[in-house]
Amino acid sequence: REAGCLSIIVLGASGDLAKKKTFPALFHLFQQGFLQENDVHIFGYARTKLSDDDLRERIRGYLGKVVSTENVEILSKFLQLIKYVSGSYDSEEGFQLLDMQVSEHETSKNSQPGTSRRLFYLALPPSVYPSVCTMIRRHCMNQSDLGGWTRIVVEKPFGKDLESAEDLSAQLGELFDEKQLYRIDHYLGKELVQNLLVLRFANRFFMPLWNRDNIDNIQIVFREDFGTEGRGGYFDEYGIIRDIIQNHLLQVLCLVAMEKPVSLKPEHIRDEKVKVLQSVLPIKPEEVVLGQYEGYKNDPTVSDSSNTPTFATAVLRIHNERWEGVPFILKAGKALNSRKAEIRVQFKDVPGDIFKSKKQGRNEFVIRLQPSEAMYMKLTVKKPGLQMSTIQSELDLSYGLRYQDVKIPEAYERLILDTIRGDQQHFVRRDELRVAWEIFTPLLHSIDEGQLKPISYKPGSRGPAEADELLAKAGYVQTHGY
Ligand code: BG6
Repeated sequence: REAGCLSIIVLGASGDLAKKKTFPALFHLFQQGFLQENDVHIFGYARTKLSDDDLRERIRGYLGKVVSTENVEILSKFLQLIKYVSGSYDSEEGFQLLDMQVSEHETSKNSQPGTSRRLFYLALPPSVYPSVCTMIRRHCMNQSDLGGWTRIVVEKPFGKDLESAEDLSAQLGELFDEKQLYRIDHYLGKELVQNLLVLRFANRFFMPLWNRDNIDNIQIVFREDFGTEGRGGYFDEYGIIRDIIQNHLLQVLCLVAMEKPVSLKPEHIRDEKVKVLQSVLPIKPEEVVLGQYEGYKNDPTVSDSSNTPTFATAVLRIHNERWEGVPFILKAGKALNSRKAEIRVQFKDVPGDIFKSKKQGRNEFVIRLQPSEAMYMKLTVKKPGLQMSTIQSELDLSYGLRYQDVKIPEAYERLILDTIRGDQQHFVRRDELRVAWEIFTPLLHSIDEGQLKPISYKPGSRGPAEADELLAKAGYVQTHGY
C-alpha cells in the first residue's frame, strides 16, 4: 500500500535545539530529496506567539548563514513547507488546533484515512513530556490501521536518576507503545559510532584481538573547549555525568564492548547492548575523579555553592568472559584545552620484547569521532634508514583525505531519517535506559549529597591532574609519536 503523506511536527519550535539541530537536519534531508515537497509538511508548535513567516524568518536567519548561494532557492522552498501553531504544552485547544492543521494538510494531499504518517519531535524540556504526550495521544493520533503511523521522538535527559527515569518511562509507556517511541542519543548517529559494528564484526583483524588477552585498557573520551555558555541553569541541575557520560559515552561503550548480535535487526543489536550494560560492576568512588572549572559559578544561573561536576573520569569494569580485568575509562569535560571525542584501545605490552621498544609505547588503536573523523593504529616500525632502531608510527585512515567526495551527514539528519523509516536500531530502548541509570545512580546520589566533591581546574587545561593519575593507575601508558 502507498504510504500517505508525512507531517513532521516540531514541538518547542521556537527553542534552541529546534533552531540549531532539528530544522537544519530537516532542511538537509529536504535538500537531498529525502523529504518531498508534494508529500511533506512541517509544523512548528510552541508557546510563543508567532506567525508562519516569523518562524520561517527565524529559521532562515540561522540557516541562511550556512547555506551556500546556490541553495538559497531550495531554502525558500523548504521554508514554505513550514507552518506554525502556537499553544501551551498542556492546552486541549492548542493540540486540537494542531490536529486540525495537520488533518487539513493530509486532506489536501488526498491521503487515504489511516495511511498518513505523523512524526512528533519533542525539542522540549522533559518536564513537559508527560503533558505533551497526553495531549498528542488525546487529540493528534491518526488511525494507524492502514499503514499510517504516529511516532514520538524524545531527547535526553530522560530523568535524573533511576527512579525519575522509570517514572517518566512508565508515563510515556502508558500512552505509547515502545515501537512508537524514539529516544534520541545523537552520538548513535555519528559516522564513526555507526562504523563500530562494521569494524568489529566485518574484519578478521579485530575479532581475535578484541578481548582481555590482548587489550590492556580502553578510554572513551569527550572534551569540549568551551564552558556551559548560556546553558548554566540546565547544566547545573544535571552535571557532566548526566549530560554526557551516562548517555553518549555509555552508548559508545556498549558498541565497543558488546558481543556479536545474532543479526543486524534492531532488537538483536539492542539485546546485546543491554547484556553488556548488565555486566557492568558498581562504580567504585575511588575510581572516580570529578572536576569543576574555575569561573563556572560566575554564571548567574548557577548556584554559588554548586557541587556540580563539569569534568569527570570514571573507571567502569565489565564482569564477563571477554572483559574481566580491562578498565573502561570514561572521561568527559567542559572548558578543557581542546574539542575532541575519541575511543582509545590500548593493547598489552609485547611479551618477550627483543627490541626494547616498550618505552616508546604500546600498540594503540584510536577512533576519532570528531573533529575530523579518523581511525589510526599506533604501531612500532623500524626507523627508516641504515640503523636498526624502532619508532612509533601510524597506520592512518583519515576520512577527510580518503573520502574527499563524501559529505558526512549530521547525526540528527541520519536519526530523523531513521525515524521516518521506522528503524529503531540507533535509538535507546527502555530497558537499556534503565540499566544505564542503574549503573550511575549510586554515584550520582553521592555527588548530589556532597559526599564526592569536584576538584577545581583551570579553563583551557587538561582538567584535574588527579584524573591523569587515575588513568595511569588503571594501566594507561602514554605513548610517544614519531
Ligand atoms: C549534548 C550535550 O548532548 O551534546 C551538550 O547536552 C554537548 O552539553 C553536546 O555540548 C555535544 O555534542 P557534539 O555532537 O558536539 O559532541
